[in-house]
Amino acid sequence: MHTSIRRSASVLRSTSRAYTTSSSPSPCLLCSQLQTKTRSIHVSPFRKPRSQQRRHNASASAAAASASWRATLNKASELVAEAAPSFTLNPAAIVAGEMKALTQNIQDLLSSGHPSLDKVAKYYIQSEGKHLRPLVVLLMARATYSCPKLPVDARRPTANINSPITSPSILQDFNPSYTSETPAPSPSTIATQISPSQTRLAEITEMIHAASLLHDDVIDNAEARRGSPSGNLAFGNKMAILAGDFLLGRASVALARLRDAEVVELLATVIANLVEGEFMQLHNGATSPSGDARGPPPRYSPAAFEHYIQKTYLKTASLISKSCRAAAILGGSTRDIADAAYLYGKNLGLSFQLVDDLLDYTVASSDLGKPAQADLKLGLATAPVLFAWEQYEELGPMINRKFAEAGDVDKAWELVQKSNGLQRTRELAESFSRKAIDAISMFPDSEAKEGLEQIARKGLTRKK
Ligand code: FPP
Ligand code: MG
Repeated sequence: MHTSIRRSASVLRSTSRAYTTSSSPSPCLLCSQLQTKTRSIHVSPFRKPRSQQRRHNASASAAAASASWRATLNKASELVAEAAPSFTLNPAAIVAGEMKALTQNIQDLLSSGHPSLDKVAKYYIQSEGKHLRPLVVLLMARATYSCPKLPVDARRPTANINSPITSPSILQDFNPSYTSETPAPSPSTIATQISPSQTRLAEITEMIHAASLLHDDVIDNAEARRGSPSGNLAFGNKMAILAGDFLLGRASVALARLRDAEVVELLATVIANLVEGEFMQLHNGATSPSGDARGPPPRYSPAAFEHYIQKTYLKTASLISKSCRAAAILGGSTRDIADAAYLYGKNLGLSFQLVDDLLDYTVASSDLGKPAQADLKLGLATAPVLFAWEQYEELGPMINRKFAEAGDVDKAWELVQKSNGLQRTRELAESFSRKAIDAISMFPDSEAKEGLEQIARKGLTRKK
């Protein structure tokens, strides 16, 4: 069992409210999967050749060794080292029972008659992670429990989420963990306040996330994730892709069995959004209209930043925002509450990604658990460099060629440090975090609401 959940469970036993007494810092949330992963060279045709990557790596190491680099980094890191507010609430403790069952439930959903496929499909599910997305979904389910509801006749009837819609003889989808004898899950109680369909939604959200990571690690040619070899390294690209597809297939089956077309529409759109976001990331939005990187150097335009924010929404915020909305819908909430849940998730996702992009410039690789300057080395122009581009026009051509020429990475990094880009990125992350908290201000006070607020605040002070 995950240590933080174990600690949370004991806290829950010892107090009626889910407040920790420990002063130890809580682990980081959204970025849990990034902690020890090595960002590596993309295999995409849009990426720069490996020889150029190696030149970047060599020059970056030299820069990292210099004292002036260290001094600059220390100065930049002050941006993320601002006094951390003391957090006494442990959000995971509020939904400790559901979080404890999450990993086993997902493994059951993924069982098949093919042991080697099972092994790869369950690989990222079993690895230690903070499971931020299902945590937020479960907290949202609970926070919306006492919110205004649709009239009873406008709500979807409760479904047996374990029961197939089509005859199993036609489906031919053997899952040894789910047979005709599998009972319907028990309905939500006043004590849990979370329905079986909302718990299943949290599992589906994590399955889609794990599928996207398996595919992402193939694209990024990653070597490690969560302190272990990445799926592509452990099982090869073909198996990693097939396992990701299998996860998506079984997530879709589970989604259909919620028997709510609106929720199916939301989560199916997430899958398309993730692909669109990854696709947009391959283009920085700075290339000439023809998409030809050898075209005239672009000037800064707000369109480049809009492209980045839209990419960030699709790749990071879509899953959490639409899952939050789906949680409210499954609970029979009114449209206003569903809108608020969506806005919370959207702003939380944007805030977390901006902090992630900031950390790439402000935290040394030893602290980050992955190489520093990773985004620049991958050719990515994120918020800090886009803001810096407004002050330093010479960044345009570098962004356009994805920092592919020798010296580009170091030059761009220096310009970002000199600019107000890091400060503006931090301010933008803070404003998204505030918007997330504001979005749910109309919810009645509850531990779950406090947990959601804290997750939004805590993301701003994480260091990796
Ligand atoms: C992590 O990005 C990756 C994602 C958040 C989504 C990736 C999406 C795809 C590969 C499209 C396919 C989607 C599905 C559902 C199969 P990152 O590389 O910035 O973060 P990392 O450092 O954790 O790798
Ligand atoms: Mg990646």
